[in-house]
Amino acid sequence: MRKNVFIKTYGCQMNVYDSARMADVLAPLGYGAVASPDTADMVILNTCHIREKAAEKVFSELGRLHQLQEERAAQGKRLVLAVAGCVAQAEGAEIARRAPYVDMVFGPQSYHRLPDMVARLGRDSGLVLETEFPVEDKFDNLPTPRHQTGPAVFLTIQEGCDKFCTFCVVPYTRGAEFSRPVADVIAEARQLVRGGAREITLLGQNVNAYHGVGPNGAAVGLGDLLRRMADEVDGLERLRYTTSHPRDVDDSLIAAHRDLDILMPYLHLPVQSGADGILAAMNRGHTAGDYRRIVARLREAQPNLAMSSDFIVGFPGESDADFEATMTLIREVGYAQAFSFKYSPRPGTPAATHDAPVPEAVKTARLAQLQALLGDQQRAFNQSFLGQTVSVLLDRPGRHRGQVAGRSPYLQPVQVAASPDLIGTIARVAIDEVLTNSLTGRLTAPSATGVSAA
Ligand code: 5AD
Ligand code: SF4
Repeated sequence: MRKNVFIKTYGCQMNVYDSARMADVLAPLGYGAVASPDTADMVILNTCHIREKAAEKVFSELGRLHQLQEERAAQGKRLVLAVAGCVAQAEGAEIARRAPYVDMVFGPQSYHRLPDMVARLGRDSGLVLETEFPVEDKFDNLPTPRHQTGPAVFLTIQEGCDKFCTFCVVPYTRGAEFSRPVADVIAEARQLVRGGAREITLLGQNVNAYHGVGPNGAAVGLGDLLRRMADEVDGLERLRYTTSHPRDVDDSLIAAHRDLDILMPYLHLPVQSGADGILAAMNRGHTAGDYRRIVARLREAQPNLAMSSDFIVGFPGESDADFEATMTLIREVGYAQAFSFKYSPRPGTPAATHDAPVPEAVKTARLAQLQALLGDQQRAFNQSFLGQTVSVLLDRPGRHRGQVAGRSPYLQPVQVAASPDLIGTIARVAIDEVLTNSLTGRLTAPSATGVSAA
């Protein structure tokens, strides 16, 4: 009998990928994916634990779903509620306590075990909990990817993190660093391209720490993997990777930015702070000077490179001068886009017990100042495209009738006056309007393809 599953994804792109793979695992059990909880027999919240707000959102969503679950029960029907992802991993017991109506709780390393968990649901009463790090490799136990179709897709090549930045929960929720073998990555990439992908974003919490086993048994780094992808995956036209750590940017990776046309000239490289004392307290393992030098070398290799980053303001002990150092770094580097957050103590992380918290009002003021600067930079970056021609991978229907939407090499959303038949192609687009968060343009040649940067 056909059943419906609604998977709601929070947080990072790795979760987007994981949600698609969960749908792959559930398909043979008769579950089809639906886009809302209204007709669902099972709802899975694929959660994020990185910041306090992200975790709290899950509990409020669970409250709403509980009401739906009770309405169903009144009609004699069952709505299975599941919490997956990093909140499940970190707060399994807390979920059971605060939301005892939840049926399944499982961490990111366990979703290949879903068939067994679903079977247990029918058999046993009570919560099905899977938050151990299993000994078997989940990637070896997952079906062929099917639920990620479309021109721009994700491919997880690395998981976990051994860096232990003092603010971060990832080493605890995603576990130790693990890289998938090169052959598996290439095989999955070919499969995705056969399914219509033109652009692949390689994912990892620490993607440039990648060290997968290569064909001759030796470890291969990310720079080499990118080269192999460019050579060996026919039909692939765009390549990206995220998220990187400054400490793992090596010569081979920098050279890949110089040599590979299909590697998009856009890099998300979190720095978190521009003050060396704070970077040390964060256990980042690099200074602001190291970061500046890395960016300079990358830009020498790829002069079109646009940068993105993550920033945390109000880390314990952050002084006005420390904050100013971050502002100076931002002015010097110049960002096309960035994410910035107020520091929030995460239970179990070393920084959470730090004794020099920054007052909330100071955090708020610093964040506003930082975001104003980053916003100005982003607007100026986008504005520089007015009148330019960019290549756009058209991947979805547009905002208005007669429009198709896609992404520029710099990940800018672009609305293009074009026929939906062109979805899945790379078009040359003349930009004639710049809005706050997107560009608008028209085709320069009806079905032209090409991957050149702006
Ligand atoms: N507080 C605030 N921001 C955080 N991040 C991670 N942990 C915290 C925290 N405890 C931010 C970092 C990271 C991004 C994914 O989330 O900037 O790069
Ligand atoms: Fe978290 Fe630092 Fe690892 Fe990134 S590098 S996942 S911020 S511990």
